[in-house]
Amino acid sequence: MRAEREWIYYDPMFESDMYHPYLYRYAPWSGLRRFAYDFVRWYQPERIVELGSHYGCSTFAFLQAIRDGSLNTEFFAVDTWAGDDFTVYDHKEDVIGLFRKVLKRSFFEQNVHMYCGRFERMCRRFADASVDILHIDGSHWYHDVKRDYEMWLPKMKPDGVILFHDVGEDLFCGQELGSRTFWMELCRVRKGTAILPFSGGLGLVFMDPGMCGQFRRKARISRYQKNINLDDMVTKARIRQVSYQLQQAEAYIRDLQGQVRIKEEHLQRYAADTKAKDRYISKLEKRLEEYRHDRVISDRSGV
Ligand SMILES: C[S@@+](CC[C@H](N)C(=O)[O-])C[C@H]1O[C@@H](n2cnc3c(N)ncnc32)[C@H](O)[C@@H]1O
Repeated sequence: MRAEREWIYYDPMFESDMYHPYLYRYAPWSGLRRFAYDFVRWYQPERIVELGSHYGCSTFAFLQAIRDGSLNTEFFAVDTWAGDDFTVYDHKEDVIGLFRKVLKRSFFEQNVHMYCGRFERMCRRFADASVDILHIDGSHWYHDVKRDYEMWLPKMKPDGVILFHDVGEDLFCGQELGSRTFWMELCRVRKGTAILPFSGGLGLVFMDPGMCGQFRRKARISRYQKNINLDDMVTKARIRQVSYQLQQAEAYIRDLQGQVRIKEEHLQRYAADTKAKDRYISKLEKRLEEYRHDRVISDRSGV
């Protein structure tokens, strides 16, 4: 078993938010970032493999912890970045492009590998008993989660931990998610499991149940739930502030548009006035021409 370490509740800044502010809004994973951060710093893994990175909400939380803790952790992000049945509605943007952008800007110095391919194929590249933390967050169909787990299980170190996302009670289209069904099955046959029942639900399976006991004694999961509520308040306050600024900006734009309209009316009036004056000038010039003509004739005839 690993040496006992104190669990610390950090207050991290997630740098990815600077380049990719939508991560927080889009990803159901966002409520688990603080936990993932503290967990990595507590566990100090040598190797993390993530099956399903998508926009990178979870990835960048892990990487932030690795960097802030100056850990010597190798990180593998595995994904096709093509999406699956559960992310179809989220695939409106350049997902892989945004992922690469954050990786390049914030974590380029870290030991990160992007494996663009299917989990099944990438699994062969890893030696048995070589992974400390495995995060399973791919397709949530029951058979896919089961396959990912069974295929990758031999890759885990004897004191490794597998994290499963979306194992909570939330329903998808009125149905229990396959990831939840599989998780419940797993909990019946394995010792050393724990769950964070919010933000979709994050399940932990400790290969060494003794470590799970250590984890339960050290970390207070309810504290993370409270943090989410706090985060929600902060986010809501920020949204309120931004929407107020937006309303003001819209009112200002309406005002400017009104001013432009008035100026255009003036310009039209000036243009019409100028045209009328031009017409009058040419009339006068014509008349002047006629006077000159008449005078020449009268001069010649001596009238
Ligand atoms: C739920 S998303 C991952 C979410 C991410 N962990 C986060 O924090 O936002 C699932 C991802 O798994 C990928 N995926 C699903 N099945 C896969 C497979 N068999 N091989 C490779 N990628 C897969 C999809 O492309 C998708 O991007």
